Amino acid sequence: MIDQLVRWRAEPEAREHQPITPMNRDQLTRYLDARQPRDLTKLIHNDYILIIEDADNHNGVGWLTIEILSRLHGLARLGYTIGRDYWGQGYATAAVQTVVHQLFTETPIERIEADCSIHNPASRRVLEKCGFRFIGTKRKYLVIQGERVDHHYFELCKDDFHTT
Ligand SMILES: CC(C)(COP(=O)(O)OP(=O)(O)OC[C@H]1O[C@@H](n2cnc3c(N)ncnc32)[C@H](O)[C@@H]1OP(=O)(O)O)[C@@H](O)C(=O)NCCC(=O)NCCS
Repeated sequence: MIDQLVRWRAEPEAREHQPITPMNRDQLTRYLDARQPRDLTKLIHNDYILIIEDADNHNGVGWLTIEILSRLHGLARLGYTIGRDYWGQGYATAAVQTVVHQLFTETPIERIEADCSIHNPASRRVLEKCGFRFIGTKRKYLVIQGERVDHHYFELCKDDFHTT
């Protein structure tokens, strides 16, 4: 699984619209070993990488990141990447929906944010399909491949989640 994650993170398509934090195989191994999925319900760590698997055959298809922005205020931010070979099959949407449900039902998180490059309509569509609300555009938000890129900013609150 680690090798797959290392491979996906190196794919040019994964890096086109997001600044991937450099981590080599050893660093990723240590990171994942230190964060068990069950820790998520207790929000023990400040960030998590979760592997996305196909529900039927359990093959890894991508990963999802969760940053805990504030425990006090119940704020988190999501990111997600699907391996190039698996795009367009609903994996990102299903993964975001699953994690949103878990965060809102099993943790104190009450507000989830996500940003996507203005040049990444597929990512925007994933957020829309998951019920996220478009808030606005953050100008020159992240540096991606040396350029400052505007990003669309989305939010989903626990109250919205119950009505979507
Ligand atoms: C963005 C990404 C996660 C989408 O993953 P995915 O598993 O293919 O997403 P899904 O299949 O769940 O949904 C994709 C949606 O985007 C739509 N879409 C794809 N390309 C599109 C485009 N160029 N313009 C508009 N919509 C597009 C699809 O049609 C689908 O919507 P639909 O179900 O209404 O038809 C994937 O392309 C990826 O990992 N890209 C590289 C990393 C990245 O950009 N991550 C997001 C950082 S914010």
